[in-house]
Amino acid sequence: MLWIKAFHIVFVVSWFAGLFYLPRIFVNLALVPAGSTAERERLLLMAGKLYRFVTPIAALAIGLGLWLWFGFGFSGGWLHAKTALVLGLVGYHHGCGRLLAKFQRGETPHAPVWFRFFNEIPVLALVAICILVVVKPL
Ligand code: HEM
Repeated sequence: MLWIKAFHIVFVVSWFAGLFYLPRIFVNLALVPAGSTAERERLLLMAGKLYRFVTPIAALAIGLGLWLWFGFGFSGGWLHAKTALVLGLVGYHHGCGRLLAKFQRGETPHAPVWFRFFNEIPVLALVAICILVVVKPL
């Protein structure tokens, strides 16, 4: 069980690296002056590679978490609350994919400040999930 939990945490950390950095690239994309196509293309290339790289990692993080849950008899309100937050994170991840597609179509879907606030959502989720899984207050 400990090997599975160790790799669960490895993939969770890697997933969050993407969830923290991708919206930061979106902030920079929204700041690119009109006409700076080279800069925009470079940022789009980075965002596309990062999104393709981090999506299977998210699936592995969740898969190992479900293996821990159903394979080792974990239970409790903390796990249900945690899973609800993780479903929110999956929605956020998917939302990043849709925003990336809009940027790739040449759109700038929101102002930089909107992306700065959007960028903070995974931070709040990470704090809540870690409290739930380590302290198990529910
Ligand atoms: C549906 C997805 C997930 C499920 C079902 C799940 C389930 C679990 C389970 C059953 C454990 C073992 C708890 C224990 O040993 O006390 C665990 C450990 C852990 N999970 Fe997840 N997890 C999921 C996603 C995540 C995510 C997204 C994070 C991000 C912060 C996360 C962070 C952790 C941490 C830090 C531990 C180690 C806790 C400890 O050893 O005390 N998990 N997870």
